[in-house]
Amino acid sequence: MIENVVGIVPIPLGIAVNFLINDRDYLIPMAIEEPSVVAAASHAAKLARPSGGFKASSTEPLMIGQIQIVRPHSPRDAEKHILGSKKELLDIANEKDPMLVSKGGGAKDLRVRVLPSFTGTMVIAELLVDCRDAMGANVVNTMAESIAPMIEKLADGKANLRIISNLADKRVARASVRITKEALGGGAIVDRIVDAYAFAAADPYRCATHNKGVMNGVTAVCLATGNDTRAIEAGAHAYAARTGHYSPLTRWSKDENGDLEGSIEIPVAVGIIGGITAVHPTAKICLKILAVKTARELGEVMAAVGLAQNLAALRALATEGIQHGHMSLHARNIAAMAGAEGEMIDQVAAAMVSEKKVRLDRAKELVVELADSENRASTHQEAHEPKKHPK
Ligand code: MEV
Repeated sequence: MIENVVGIVPIPLGIAVNFLINDRDYLIPMAIEEPSVVAAASHAAKLARPSGGFKASSTEPLMIGQIQIVRPHSPRDAEKHILGSKKELLDIANEKDPMLVSKGGGAKDLRVRVLPSFTGTMVIAELLVDCRDAMGANVVNTMAESIAPMIEKLADGKANLRIISNLADKRVARASVRITKEALGGGAIVDRIVDAYAFAAADPYRCATHNKGVMNGVTAVCLATGNDTRAIEAGAHAYAARTGHYSPLTRWSKDENGDLEGSIEIPVAVGIIGGITAVHPTAKICLKILAVKTARELGEVMAAVGLAQNLAALRALATEGIQHGHMSLHARNIAAMAGAEGEMIDQVAAAMVSEKKVRLDRAKELVVELADSENRASTHQEAHEPKKHPK
């Protein structure tokens, strides 16, 4: 799949449970190295079940391909000429992928922006391509390259970049959820979660962490299904900043009954065909477990997971804090770091959790103590074993 390969880096694959999305149960594969993420998503999904789970929807899978024209003779004339030849340009682009067109996809529209920049005013032609079930980077880039020569002539300028935009704001998924105050443990917790959201909405330092928590879920599903995690991350954060104010990807409020209502809207440039999704054996199995029929459905699942992940984080942060749960789950990693192996990993982890001292120095002491007591036990056993007499 890549160049100069020297190995692979396996990442744990977990299955998030309890997800009810649009009245369908899902088992959701998540690939992530961070403890507690899969458990947290599953827990939030459980809280959502009694009130009907998640409702999700999405736009058509439209991606944007940009063609940059620099130093156009007249930017406004360039815009007029490009738009005047729209039909011809779309036909040229669509000739590049008759299969996509036969499935109802392909280049659907072309728009033009005149963009002032520090090297001069440029003209940006943007091709809107319905990618159906593919993520679409290859087809969009191919189409953008195919129309660039004609656009260059029409614009009377020089074509420079011809590339997809990862700000996939025409390909978004939405999910919403309602959690009763009883399920959350009381009305005070609803208020605390709304206060936590208000903090993120008001402060970019908190908002980055808030959105990181959302992406813990989204990116883990993206990776498990063989999709491009960098594209998803870039798209999500650019979308969060699209108004000029970096904002939370989710929203939380209290309804008239005092219950918690949440929603999310994120760009979801993901596919279920093409790329490595249909080649990588684990990604193929993950898609089979998810049993999604379209890329749009996969995007909707990712939106629901992002919303659940954020809810779990805010609930924990606004109540007992995340370190308790997190450190209990992280205790096994610390035990292994301290040199524990096999069954000793669980013994050391359990001791640290019960002592509420989940730390490397304590793990090292416990490893030594357990190893000593195992040595003493085996010496004791040997001393009491019947002596073997040579024949
Ligand atoms: C940790 O990976 C994610 C959180 O920091 C998210 C948040 O603070 O909302 C818990």
